[in-house]
Amino acid sequence: MFSSWPKSESLMERSRKVVSSTRPDLDGTFPFVVASGLGGYVTDLEGNRYLDLTASTGAVLLGHRHPEVSAATIAAINDVGSMFPTTTSPLLFEVAERLTNMFPSAERALFFRTGSEATTAAIRLARMATGRRTVLTSGYHGWHDWHLQMFPQFRMEDPTHIDFAYNLNLLELLLDRYAGDVACVIVTPDLNFFPHEYFAELRELTSRKGVILIFDEVVTGFRYGMGGFQSSSGITPEMTTLSKGLANGHAISAVVGRAELIEQRDKTHMWGTFNSEVTPLAAAVATLDVFVRDNVPAVLDHVGTALMEGLGALFRSAGVRADAFRVGSDFHIVFEDEDLGQAFYWSCLCRGVLFHRFDRQIVTAAHTLEDVQFALDVAGEALAELEASTPAAFQGWSEPSPEARDLRCLNETGGLMDYRRAVDEIPDMWTLVNQIKELPPSP
Ligand SMILES: Cc1ncc(COP(=O)(O)O)c(C=O)c1O
Repeated sequence: MFSSWPKSESLMERSRKVVSSTRPDLDGTFPFVVASGLGGYVTDLEGNRYLDLTASTGAVLLGHRHPEVSAATIAAINDVGSMFPTTTSPLLFEVAERLTNMFPSAERALFFRTGSEATTAAIRLARMATGRRTVLTSGYHGWHDWHLQMFPQFRMEDPTHIDFAYNLNLLELLLDRYAGDVACVIVTPDLNFFPHEYFAELRELTSRKGVILIFDEVVTGFRYGMGGFQSSSGITPEMTTLSKGLANGHAISAVVGRAELIEQRDKTHMWGTFNSEVTPLAAAVATLDVFVRDNVPAVLDHVGTALMEGLGALFRSAGVRADAFRVGSDFHIVFEDEDLGQAFYWSCLCRGVLFHRFDRQIVTAAHTLEDVQFALDVAGEALAELEASTPAAFQGWSEPSPEARDLRCLNETGGLMDYRRAVDEIPDMWTLVNQIKELPPSP
């Protein structure tokens, strides 16, 4: 059991005086500083090793320091350099060709560094192609001003970006109210909370209204199958954003989509210095090689499902109201009693298993069934410890309430799971939507 982190605490204390860029949900809650990562594990400054189920928020698809990706990256730096004066390069061509072959919506590709850049670029392209302004959005798309519509506490005044919070009735209402001025609808496919039918209805609605649909597959692009969610679902958007997993932790993102949309880029300024960087492209080629050769989505699904189902079985046999659901490769855990959930994660962390305490749990292709067994053993010990201290919470299993799931859904997506809830019945706590109902029509 790990119980104190003196070196980490000391570094955090010193860091706070000179750095202010920590993530409140990760650095702010983990008691340690990570010193290194290898495969499915990270090691802290104290030398403690943890099974990493955050996958660095999903970016490290193959696990930390994947040997083939590292070798390709180091070779690129040594053999050709890290950055060229121009953007076109053999590696750029290679990655673009692979993505256009892999993703149904991809006729052309355009590259950036981060997911926020890619989603911001995609909506600019949609606006340019249509000459319209209004962007209807649901789900997380990054940190730039316009994405903040998802967070009532952070949003900036911006009537041209409207978050419809995954509610299809609200989307329909907005499409009518802003008819003729909607440039695009951009949505993150989140199968943990919204079923396949949701996205089929979304596609039908946007097609019927003649509006561009963008799938933000920054997370799902390399998790839900070869060619992302759109490939496995058969639902094709006009544009797609990609990033996490594309280069196994190296900074690269892409917008792929219909040629006439991506080519709008030639009519605007959409280029940055580090778009000419070569190293992440080398990492992307190596990552995609492994991705296809090893059928990585199937590996993630197999290992992740074993962990998710194993946890579900543990919660049931322990008699605690908690559940793990729905997509194995990046699933959610919900405890009816959130404080109990936090105690569970803490107890696991002290035993060497790093669950994300506020977000999805994400496996990598480096995780094995032995790692799953280790995580389940630890989870079993943690539950036994909690039962000894709070027996009242272990009186028999039943599904967590819809409210508990909805709270998680709201935190994660900005929406509620009942995506056909009547607009007038949306609860008051959903203040953002209530503000949207008051918005004036576009002039
Ligand atoms: C679906 C989705 N889109 C966009 C982003 C933003 O990507 P980045 O953090 O690289 O800017 C994220 C990041 O978590 C994301 O999950």
